[in-house]
Amino acid sequence: MAVKGRQYGRVPPRKSSSSMMIFAMLLIFSFLIIILLALGILSIPGSSKGSTKAHDLSSIARNTITKGDEDEERKDQWVEVISWEPRASVFHNFLSKEECEYLINLAKPHMQKSTVVDSDTGKSKDSRVRTSSGTFLPRGRDKIVSDIEKRIADFTFIPVEHGEGLQVLHYEVGQKYEPHYDYFMDEFNTKNGGQRIATVLMYLSDVEEGGETVFPAAKGNFSSVPWWNELSECGKEGLSVKPKMGDALLFWSMKPDATLDPSSLHGGCHVIKGNKWSSTKWIRVHEYKV
Ligand SMILES: *[C@@H]1O[C@H](CO)[C@@H](O)[C@H](O)[C@H]1NC(C)=O
Repeated sequence: MAVKGRQYGRVPPRKSSSSMMIFAMLLIFSFLIIILLALGILSIPGSSKGSTKAHDLSSIARNTITKGDEDEERKDQWVEVISWEPRASVFHNFLSKEECEYLINLAKPHMQKSTVVDSDTGKSKDSRVRTSSGTFLPRGRDKIVSDIEKRIADFTFIPVEHGEGLQVLHYEVGQKYEPHYDYFMDEFNTKNGGQRIATVLMYLSDVEEGGETVFPAAKGNFSSVPWWNELSECGKEGLSVKPKMGDALLFWSMKPDATLDPSSLHGGCHVIKGNKWSSTKWIRVHEYKV
């Protein structure tokens, strides 16, 4: 009996001390979890801020959020496939008016007569087939240029590092660029970055008449485009895109099987009325070192 009594007597205090223990442990656990959470919450944006790693998927959500904030002023953007041979599409309102004006003003003091690449020597030479003037802006020159280059990389699925510097071009009345390929036929020009795979041509101004980008070797009935009646004689010689401030034309000089695409032959029609400003990004198969 005495043993039993002692047992009964001991049990209640034991119960309360063990529940105290459980309570204390719960407290410690919740503190631990709170500390871990706090560290986690603080470290996620902090650690991924400077990272631009290609496989860092956390940047997706971040880019989506920042995009919405800054694009309030931008006009409607949409992509229109205009041809499959060559592969070409127009990204409407790719650049804002301010970006177009910025690029023109940046380039204006440095414009020089355009040259073409001599396919025998690989060097630049003067030419009657290209009568515009132009200048190169170094890749990543400043924040605005970098933003545009990032947007081009997003649009083309080719990293910024594969791009040459932006070229800004100016065509006055009568100036043009005869149909040509953007890919190279010589060894010299493909040493850095390999072949040119794609081109993004951005229109920095409207052109009152003429100045179309024409693809004379495009397949299909190019007189069925809705803007056919607005084209110049030169523009009617192929599939044409009319310059419109802010629009970007993407076309591929190589097919998906990595062979050169002769249907990418293209030219700049002579300007009949007004002024044409454009900016070109040539993109290589490999990284282009600057
Ligand atoms: C091309 O398109 C135009 C305009 O839609 C049409 O009038 C013409 O008959 C077409 N040509 C051919 C060869 O299909």
